[in-house]
Amino acid sequence: MTVTPAFLQLQESNGTAVREELAAGLLNQPASVSPKFLYDALGSRLFSAITELPEYYPTRTEAAIFAAHGANMARQVSPGALMLDLGAGCCAKAARLFPVLQPAGYVAVDISVDFLRDTLVTLQQRHPALPMLGLGLDFSSTLTLPDDALPWLAQHRLENRPRVVFYPGSSIGNFSPPEALRLLRQAHAVCQAGGAGGGLLIGVDRVKPVDVLEPAYDDSLGVTAAFNRNLLLHANHLLGTDFQPRQWTHVALYHTAESRIEMHLESAIDQTVRWPGGERHFVAGERLHTENSYKWTPDAFAALLEQAGFRPTAHWTDERAWFSVFWAVAQT
Ligand SMILES: C[S@@+](CC[C@H](N)C(=O)[O-])C[C@H]1O[C@@H](n2cnc3c(N)ncnc32)[C@H](O)[C@@H]1O
Repeated sequence: MTVTPAFLQLQESNGTAVREELAAGLLNQPASVSPKFLYDALGSRLFSAITELPEYYPTRTEAAIFAAHGANMARQVSPGALMLDLGAGCCAKAARLFPVLQPAGYVAVDISVDFLRDTLVTLQQRHPALPMLGLGLDFSSTLTLPDDALPWLAQHRLENRPRVVFYPGSSIGNFSPPEALRLLRQAHAVCQAGGAGGGLLIGVDRVKPVDVLEPAYDDSLGVTAAFNRNLLLHANHLLGTDFQPRQWTHVALYHTAESRIEMHLESAIDQTVRWPGGERHFVAGERLHTENSYKWTPDAFAALLEQAGFRPTAHWTDERAWFSVFWAVAQT
């Protein structure tokens, strides 16, 4: 029998608000758009390819931490929880933890709706007994489990299960520290709504030498460059811009004072980008800022977790101390 995952799409990916946000970002001085616009179906596939690159250490380093310490993690995290995977992508990391953490339900949240839908259909076939719900939503505006999810929770008796928010891949690094605090506070509220025993299992990339960081975001095959330039195709689709990706160069630099990798697209020529209702002139060398990826020290991140209402309860790292995974209990 084919089991189909439940799916709720909570926002129109090309609605007016999205177009206005994108246009406002293009008109900023300097031009700057949210990294969430990197992810359409092609962007999600390109990101999956990035995780295979020799230079991109975060995915395999985090996977090694889960492999080495999974049993220990299982002793901390309540079994039979409702697992909410933020920015689930291809859901592979959560799926690898199913046998270890034994969740009673799985909610995968992602803005890349078509990719998530396809991924979950396949995943549900591999785990037919695990109730699955896809949520197509942008959690940078708000992160809640919507009322529309209540019938699914009730159907599977998941309303009062502890909630484990899983946020791997150092995606939290896409947010500035104040934005990250805001998101973590919302994650805390999601955990609290499930009662005691909930918490956050989160992967965080650490400050490290620039000669490791920069190649991870500017690989020799040019996959990250394609991922970055795909934002232009996505903008053409969403807003009707006339970006020509060949006229833009990928730039990735570590900004030491801010402890962040910055990705930009640099205009190769003087050009005017036009869209219905607007335009922006770029001189040659002018940049469009597309992503930040903040790097943390464990102490600073533990302090952020506490500010958000979590008690950092356990912390695991790898041999080189490049990446951290925290389990943080949601305090009531
Ligand atoms: C860096 S990838 C990480 C994917 C996967 N969790 C991993 O660790 O390999 C970030 C994921 O978050 C999703 N994402 C980015 N911004 C988002 C937002 N504002 N709301 C929901 N999902 C978002 C992307 O579509 C993508 O799947």
